[in-house]
Amino acid sequence: MLYIGVDLGTSSVKLLLMNGEGKIQNIVSREYPIFFKQTGWSEQNPEDWFRETMGGLKDLTKNVDKSQIKGISFGGQMHGLVVLDYEDHIIRPAILWNDGRTGKETKYLNEYIGKNKLSEYTANIAFAGFTAPKILWMRENEPENFKKIEKIMLPKDYIAYKLSGTFCTDVSDASGTLLMDVKNRCWSEEMLSICHITRTQLPDLYESYEIVGNLKAEIAEELGFPCEVKIIAGAGDNAAAAVGTGTVGDGNCNISLGTSGTIFISNSKFGVDKNNALHSFAHADGYYHLMGCMLSAASCNKWWNEEILKTSDFKAEQEGIKKLGENTVFYLPYLMGERSPHNNPDARALFIGMSMNTSREDMTQAVLEGVAFGLRDSLEVARSIGIKIDRTKICGGGAKSPLWKKIIANVMNLEVDVIESEEGPAFGGAILAAVGCGEYNSVQEATDHIVKVIDTVESDPELVRKYEKKYRQFTKIYPAVKTLF
Ligand code: XUL
Repeated sequence: MLYIGVDLGTSSVKLLLMNGEGKIQNIVSREYPIFFKQTGWSEQNPEDWFRETMGGLKDLTKNVDKSQIKGISFGGQMHGLVVLDYEDHIIRPAILWNDGRTGKETKYLNEYIGKNKLSEYTANIAFAGFTAPKILWMRENEPENFKKIEKIMLPKDYIAYKLSGTFCTDVSDASGTLLMDVKNRCWSEEMLSICHITRTQLPDLYESYEIVGNLKAEIAEELGFPCEVKIIAGAGDNAAAAVGTGTVGDGNCNISLGTSGTIFISNSKFGVDKNNALHSFAHADGYYHLMGCMLSAASCNKWWNEEILKTSDFKAEQEGIKKLGENTVFYLPYLMGERSPHNNPDARALFIGMSMNTSREDMTQAVLEGVAFGLRDSLEVARSIGIKIDRTKICGGGAKSPLWKKIIANVMNLEVDVIESEEGPAFGGAILAAVGCGEYNSVQEATDHIVKVIDTVESDPELVRKYEKKYRQFTKIYPAVKTLF
């Protein structure tokens, strides 16, 4: 049997083919554009996602016995607002998770409706990238478009809809809309009324491993797949990545170094921290998780290398970095604003601490360290509410760098377990497809069988001590400059 995981990311869609034993058979990826029409805005075209997903499915299965394909599932960039009219046409480009245009609406929700009420209804407060403030923004700024809305979807759900015809989402991704009552895993009537939308405009909610339908006949024919191929709900990319790294059950941690950077803590019980600094979301294993999210992580390193240094050889740039824990340069990684824990869409990146001795390597090192310090900010929130984390898994493009993993291990004082495959969300999507098709009885059973740790990056007490001092300095920078933003 074969299962496909589709990771609908921000820069590309990655597709992974896995057999029932969990062995990866093939991986392909296809890029699509992202549009920054105004500072702080971030949009994509859902038709681009679907076209590239279809192309990717064809590439992925070119030399494969297609009769063996049983299920397709997803990990998808979260929070994006996709809106369809009554003829299923896309009304406007999708507004993405790292779009910061909703400062006013976020303020309205947090201050007028109030954080306590939001937390009571949804277990979360409003952040600019979440879906609910975007709905309010559309109502205010594009009333004609707002009136046309027949269906509201999250990015990966648009692909599931096009493939199966089922208007569906899953509880992990829906948690990030600020429209779901996370504890009870249902839509919040109160939030629908606050956002002036109705239940029929929202998809049905499924657990991430549940079947939502079969592949549509015309799609099956175009792909050469059997019509019986099942579409499984899938998860938000972080929950899917957690499945792909075996971060399920209670008290396990995963760090994702993708376009965004996240620290994800699986939880068998529902919980919220008192300031809602961490997101409290449903997990793809049927339980819950806490998560801190930085809007720019591997994207900081990509920006620094490609846009500023004008190189695509990220590895060569890191080779000369030798003096860990001794850098005098600091970097605030807020290129697209900041989510956890500062919640400021207007924050921006900066370098500070350069001297005439500062080298190119110091600047590159500062970028890698700045992201690690930003993730540590969220880890500190988790530690402050008594969560004990001493090791983590890691995935995402940034996890390919041995140096970055070492920096993370020492800045955060964690043992970093490296797993066989760093393809977090796509691998997790394929595992969810296998569970949905009955290959395993539960997500936990599947990950116990499939996910293997192949190495551990240990922290070094001397470096941890040096980085502790640096982190304390880092925490002073944002409060000192925030009035500039
Ligand atoms: C999580 C978040 C990001 C996106 C990236 O809350 O906004 O990790 O899901 O794809």
